[in-house]
Amino acid sequence: MSQAPVSQHVHAGVCTITVERPEKLNALDAATLQALADAFQTAAVDPAVRAVVLTGSGDRAFVAGADIAAMQAMDPMQARTFSQLGQDLMRRIERMSKPVIARINGYALGGGLELAMACHLRIAATTARLGQPEISLGLLPGFGGSQRLLRLAGRGAALELCLLGAPIDAARALQLGIVTEVVDKDQLDARVDALATQLAGAAPLALRAVLDAIHIGGESALEEGLQYETAQFALLFATEDMREGTTAFLQRRPPAFSGH
Ligand code: COA
Repeated sequence: MSQAPVSQHVHAGVCTITVERPEKLNALDAATLQALADAFQTAAVDPAVRAVVLTGSGDRAFVAGADIAAMQAMDPMQARTFSQLGQDLMRRIERMSKPVIARINGYALGGGLELAMACHLRIAATTARLGQPEISLGLLPGFGGSQRLLRLAGRGAALELCLLGAPIDAARALQLGIVTEVVDKDQLDARVDALATQLAGAAPLALRAVLDAIHIGGESALEEGLQYETAQFALLFATEDMREGTTAFLQRRPPAFSGH
């Protein structure tokens, strides 16, 4: 029996989701996109999960893009369905109410960069290479890349990466704001684990409020975003975790958040 395209395991509040096609540098075909969507749905509803890490198996690639062999066989209507499947997955990740960290251990190209950009934090190894090379295939990004890159790094970077198609290294990606942090390859696991552990111990309702406020703010006028922030701020005063966080501060002890 062939290996499932995606694996998932939960440990100490952190769900790690891994694309398992190392022989294809974790390229995304329709089955892999669907398996990722299922994995994120499972993580979303599992109360034991407080943070998610997304990565690719092997030491060469996070994800080297949409599966080019699969795409070559598609007609326009199949391509439309494929694009929508990818966009729906990215939307689902972006709208997760639990924080998602992309552990970028190698190539993050095309659909791989699109996947990383849908995550909330992106930690890259110094050896990672990132880009939107679709132009070299006679295509443009189809899983939201042109739009998320524009919003994340601005018009100049989006045009440069999508028009020229050349991958950039992790240091340049950091400079452009495409990744959050760059660490040596041998430090990647430790750094991602530390961040995931921190997020898994944070107040889940406050994390959710931050994710919602920043997402809604990014898609609306300032006034609307400010009103949303105020409403969320007030709501959090009804939580046990807000009492716990403020009490722990005043008692000079670490907080223990329950998610209530
Ligand atoms: N889709 C399908 N298969 C892919 C793939 C993709 N996006 N990226 C890599 N692979 C496959 C290769 O076809 C190869 O399979 P094979 O051994 O059966 O021939 C295997 O993964 C290893 O890749 P290979 O190209 O031999 O490795 P490399 O070290 O020479 O080059 C890359 C690595 C990432 C530079 C190169 O694989 C590449 O350019 N991939 C495509 C990137 C891309 O355009 N992504 C956007 C797609 S929309």
